[in-house]
Amino acid sequence: MQQQKEEKTLVIIKPDALQRNLLGEILRRLERKGLKIIGLKMMRLDDLLLGEHYAHHKDKPFFEGLKKFMKSAPVIVAALSGFNAVKAVRLIAGPTYGAEADAGTIRGDFSMSTQTNIVHASDSVETAETEIERFFKPEELFDYKKVDFEFIYGEEERA
Ligand code: CMP
Repeated sequence: MQQQKEEKTLVIIKPDALQRNLLGEILRRLERKGLKIIGLKMMRLDDLLLGEHYAHHKDKPFFEGLKKFMKSAPVIVAALSGFNAVKAVRLIAGPTYGAEADAGTIRGDFSMSTQTNIVHASDSVETAETEIERFFKPEELFDYKKVDFEFIYGEEERA
């Protein structure tokens, strides 16, 4: 088996998840998968941060509505690490439109919407790096050894 590459990724647990009491459920799914939480905090997003984070959507008709929704309550931001973490988390989140997301994914199980779709997850290693820097100060990220590491990955993957 090929040696795996450690990646970091960012998840934003959105205001709809907070309002619908889904924080524990979402963190539970990410933890249970074997991802390592290296940063976690609650924060309120403002226009400046949302303008940066969703810059690629700024000309879309849903941009103002999206910002209003993302400011409607605090969010939880989580930085996670693991081998192939970006793809693993994207698969756990499911595709944007909740109604069409597979059952078993976060969006498939908890969302009917394109906007109120419970979580945001970084779409590439490069984006993840920028997004983690955007939402976390260096001292808010933690480097530590997780005791279940050798049971989450096979010996050859860890080599
Ligand atoms: P996210 O993964 O955070 O990335 C961009 C966000 O824009 C997306 O999740 C949705 O919350 C939102 N979004 C994408 N497409 C639409 C749409 N057609 N209408 C409303 N909101 C959308």
